[in-house]
Amino acid sequence: MKITVVGAGAVGASCAEYIAIKDFASEVVLLDIKEGYAEGKAMDLMQTASLNGFDTTISGTTNDYSKTANSNICVITSGIPRKPGMTREELIGINAGIVKTVATNLIEHSPDTVLIVVSNPMDTMTYLVHKTTNLPKNRIIGMGGALDSARFKYRLAEAIGAPMSDVDGIVIGGHSDKGMLPLTRLAGRNSLPISKFLSEERIQQVLEDTKVGGATLTKLLGTSAWYAPGAAVAGLVHTVALDTRKMFPCSVMLEGEYGLNDICIGVPVILGRSGVQEILEINLTEAESAKLAESAEGVRKTNGLLDV
Ligand code: 2OP
Repeated sequence: MKITVVGAGAVGASCAEYIAIKDFASEVVLLDIKEGYAEGKAMDLMQTASLNGFDTTISGTTNDYSKTANSNICVITSGIPRKPGMTREELIGINAGIVKTVATNLIEHSPDTVLIVVSNPMDTMTYLVHKTTNLPKNRIIGMGGALDSARFKYRLAEAIGAPMSDVDGIVIGGHSDKGMLPLTRLAGRNSLPISKFLSEERIQQVLEDTKVGGATLTKLLGTSAWYAPGAAVAGLVHTVALDTRKMFPCSVMLEGEYGLNDICIGVPVILGRSGVQEILEINLTEAESAKLAESAEGVRKTNGLLDV
């Protein structure tokens, strides 16, 4: 199993590290345009192999896509991260060109790959990859909801005072500060509704804290987060690679599901070896459906900035 991660920055390197530690891939190729950077990160990571107990080989390359040839799964993290006060959407001017070039280069050397898009604004970048590559739509996955759901569960566990393994929750909609939709109605603690443990006011606070989870960290860190994004995309890679059919909220191309067409936005999907195995249509309340439609309008507005 060969995995390529484009972008050896904090998110890409964390993703490569978590993939290696899970030890299911024979090799991970880390690619970056900065001379020697991917090679250095790969070498540093390989020097943890005996310490962290993995046999996956991680190699780095400076912009040589031939080294990525015949990858089963390729992850696109390249592009600039946001600074404090920026929205993800403000990154489109620079990141769209980078993602288009990267996707084209990856497909040239790995025509059968599954592509996972992380670069922001992620829903729009995922849409751009569809339009750029014309791959079968099941082979393009946008990673945002897996990260947002992890942040939702973090806030739920914090609010309830429960261990993380006790809580469950899912976030759908756009991967944006305003557009994401934590489904508080369906969130639970070991199958019990969170309303049994939290007041409506506290639930709303959890919802709001989740929506700005990325911006909160960007303010603290001075740049975008990397551990949880890296771990979230490594989880998607693991599920695709091992065909475990886990369900994640991912940004996928919709063709009528949820009443939406020609848009990539976060919805629950089953992932397997061929990428998106199934898009799950769950029953939403009127209010939830309206919020999803509003979120879609926000994504469509950003998509409108693309020249595709
Ligand atoms: C985040 O929310 C980078 O979009 C990513 O942290």
